[in-house]
Amino acid sequence: MRRLTSVVAAASPVLQVVGKRSILGPNSNHQTSPHPRRQSYLRGEDLNQLTKWEDSMKKPTEYSNPTDHAVWDLKDVEKVTPTHKAPNDRLDNAALVIVQTMRSIFDVVSGFTIGRKTEKKYITRIIFLETVAGVPGMVAGMVRHLQSLRLLKRDHGWIHTLLEEAENERMHLLTFMEMRHVGILFRAAILIMQGIFFNAFFLAYLVSPRFCHRMVGYIEEEAVKTYTHLLADIDAGVLPQFKVMQAPPIAVAYWKLKKDATFRDLIVAVRADEASHRLVNHTFADMHVHDLADATNPFLEVDQVEPKSAEAPKPKADSKPPEK
Ligand SMILES: [Fe+2]
Ligand SMILES: [Fe+2]
Repeated sequence: MRRLTSVVAAASPVLQVVGKRSILGPNSNHQTSPHPRRQSYLRGEDLNQLTKWEDSMKKPTEYSNPTDHAVWDLKDVEKVTPTHKAPNDRLDNAALVIVQTMRSIFDVVSGFTIGRKTEKKYITRIIFLETVAGVPGMVAGMVRHLQSLRLLKRDHGWIHTLLEEAENERMHLLTFMEMRHVGILFRAAILIMQGIFFNAFFLAYLVSPRFCHRMVGYIEEEAVKTYTHLLADIDAGVLPQFKVMQAPPIAVAYWKLKKDATFRDLIVAVRADEASHRLVNHTFADMHVHDLADATNPFLEVDQVEPKSAEAPKPKADSKPPEK
């Protein structure tokens, strides 16, 4: 399970050291190490079967999402607040202006800022935005995956964090879908938006991954703001239905919440997810700025890396460098 903890930042130098002494070559500083893996229920003879489609009927319809994701300590992530990373240059500025303009237009078009905020307005807004939010991680992960195949080089752990983000956003969507019926017009709007956004983001990521990660960083800043406002509105009693609502079972299972978790608990967990996406994407944008797009993803868990004590002894000053 991956968590965005402070240990992660501390791991980075360790990873670099491990990379330098890798026996797999200069392009392979993403080491793998013993990591607990699930034992497959499939045995050798099962793998020789021609199909297992009938087993689908025997599986429960409810299951817990098996993808790695953060499980937050809700008390701890109450500390999450809106933050803003100041743009470094024109490209960052462009990303910020685009996000703020999109947000202002969407606020008006969706009617969110017109009149009193209601539970329905919040859920409608969140569902629509989560259908968009699940796109960048998947596209960025896909592009880096294709790059790895095409250029015959390792990815250094970015792909999995990006795919994890996409899956996490999809779980946000599936959770909020439990709270509202979506009509045909709404579905049409989602379809059109996905067609435009997926293609635009894909092309933009081919041209400038740095710009795309910065833009997603700013989108996530807005998401943290939205969920913080929502929490404030719940606490202020502006949204009475949300105040008494329970978190749906899908959310309890996914975020490993208490059985009697409230809707507010759910929002605290979702806001923490958005804050983690904010941090990841601003970090990836900065890594592009510092020419580190091929460096190790600093959000890999420490237990996926060889411990520091396993470092090879440093060569003596008079020893020859290893031959390449
Ligand atoms: Fe989200
Ligand atoms: Fe997000």
